[in-house]
Amino acid sequence: DKKITVSVIRERKLAGQAVSMLTAYDYSMAVTLDRAGVDMLLVGDSLGNVVLGYDSTLPVTMEDMIHHGKAVCRGAKRALVVVDMPFMSYQVTVEAAVTNAGRIMKETGAQAVKVEGGEEMAEVVSAIVRAGIPVVAHVGLTPQSVHQLGGFKVQGKSQAAAQKLLNDARALEKAGAFALVMECIPEALAQKVTQALQIATIGIGAGAGCDGQVLVINDLLGMCSGFTPKFVKKYANLERMISESVTAYIREIGEKQFPGPEHSFQLADVELEKLY
Ligand code: KIV
Ligand code: NA
Repeated sequence: DKKITVSVIRERKLAGQAVSMLTAYDYSMAVTLDRAGVDMLLVGDSLGNVVLGYDSTLPVTMEDMIHHGKAVCRGAKRALVVVDMPFMSYQVTVEAAVTNAGRIMKETGAQAVKVEGGEEMAEVVSAIVRAGIPVVAHVGLTPQSVHQLGGFKVQGKSQAAAQKLLNDARALEKAGAFALVMECIPEALAQKVTQALQIATIGIGAGAGCDGQVLVINDLLGMCSGFTPKFVKKYANLERMISESVTAYIREIGEKQFPGPEHSFQLADVELEKLY
């Protein structure tokens, strides 16, 4: 299959064809998801929670994103790779935002970056796009603003909040974002925004009316430690499979069941009794 590009995502929106996106943080998962046919791989700053063990995405650095972004890009042949810009890499000045977006593109080989925020980020989005870098925007529950939002809760629920979200979406489209992630907003609002935009919307906890969907891969696979949000569907229970596999390994080592002859190397022309 040929590489998914920003143009392909634009065509999908026009054709009314769904876009699939999943997070990936390393090479082997990127290879597996790419071969399975997922359209977009997101090197999410959720790696702070999922891979690095922080309790938010705030401590994640440019170095973290670049390190994992490189690994994912090496594994993605077909999928379009998007790398999250980490907290404070684009919020301070427009100039720093463009510099950091450029570093991510140069050092990882990704095809796009993602930034959180609404209309207030339009100037930043527009500057990054002007530098030739495709941008995915992200509205609704934006985890880098968790302290300002007062926790992980559904956004856009009041008349005013819903209007603001629609205005934000329009401003980000106008600024040149080629896709919009909408996290944790009511289904009907997400559908309304999707109809109002020419760019693809990608939902997470935003219902079936979006152009595409994204999930954290560990959540989908049931490989998550702790809290599972309502919007997650667990397609597997890898945590149990891993635990059962490792338990069997430990038991077989104790019982000398593993390694068997098929896992071991045999001597051919050496007479052991002559060794001293
Ligand atoms: O970091 C992440 O995983 C994300 C998705 C949840 C959209 O931003
Ligand atoms: Na993110």
